[in-house]
Amino acid sequence: MSLEGKVIVVTGGTSGIGEGCSRHFAALGNQVVIASNQPEQGAAMQEELQAAGHEAIFVEADVSDEGSMQNLVTRTLASYGRIDCLMSNAGAWCEGKVTDFNEADWDLIFGVNVKGNFLLLKHVVPVMEEQGQGTILITSSVAAFIGFPAHALYCASKGALEVLIRCMATDYAGVIRTVGICPGTIDTPMLRASCAGWDTPEDELLADVAQKIPVRRLGTPEDVAKAAAFLLSDDAGYINGSSVMMEGGTLALPPW
Ligand SMILES: NC(=O)c1ccc[n+]([C@@H]2O[C@H](COP(=O)([O-])OP(=O)(O)OC[C@H]3O[C@@H](n4cnc5c(N)ncnc54)[C@H](O)[C@@H]3O)[C@@H](O)[C@H]2O)c1
Repeated sequence: MSLEGKVIVVTGGTSGIGEGCSRHFAALGNQVVIASNQPEQGAAMQEELQAAGHEAIFVEADVSDEGSMQNLVTRTLASYGRIDCLMSNAGAWCEGKVTDFNEADWDLIFGVNVKGNFLLLKHVVPVMEEQGQGTILITSSVAAFIGFPAHALYCASKGALEVLIRCMATDYAGVIRTVGICPGTIDTPMLRASCAGWDTPEDELLADVAQKIPVRRLGTPEDVAKAAAFLLSDDAGYINGSSVMMEGGTLALPPW
């Protein structure tokens, strides 16, 4: 595994998948910048990881705000001097059909999931171009490829990221490698939030979902972290402009 000694920025790094990735990258010997809009969790993670001898800092950040993304890049460069890898992972979720939503819902989901990626890439890419190299991993979703019932805005926002990943690979060819990762059903606070409103208790509901997945279990943030570490490493140097599925075989299921 060649993911060692790199400066890695992880957005949404204080919860679920991003937290699992931040912890795993730090344990592998990288310098990790954990960014999110959860300052309490971030401060606690920074203290814990530094106390364990890892190199990690927390930067409070809102991916939907350009000034905040400029600040994230400035703080990263001030602390570690470069940005080798970016895991653009912060995301927002909401449930509903198009007729259930209003403009504020659109602005939230597209503001975080799509504009958030645009603003982050806009400020990280010049740093990577200046360095002559960089690797970007964007957390997409199987939702980009399935019309999940009552997930119209979320699915559409993830679909947009799939095309963005391809554009990044062509626009920054030879300098920046951009890859997507598409988690399926990963046990995180976001997944548990999606259980609200059902009559069945959360754990029973998730156990039932797990039995429908071909590997017969939910994914964990650690599952995603191990794949993410490979995708960001030089071992994955020929994977570019496409997304890797991380869904336990869910997409292989026939529709009956
Ligand atoms: N859990 C799953 O099953 C699953 C499946 C497919 C894709 N994903 C994607 O994985 C990513 C992480 O999701 P998760 O399940 O770990 O959810 P989560 O809710 O546990 O974590 C989301 C993180 O994003 C951060 N965040 C949200 N809005 C932000 C903003 N405006 N600025 C900065 N940070 C912000 C939150 O603070 C949190 O740290 C998301 O992009 C999500 O769409 C999750």
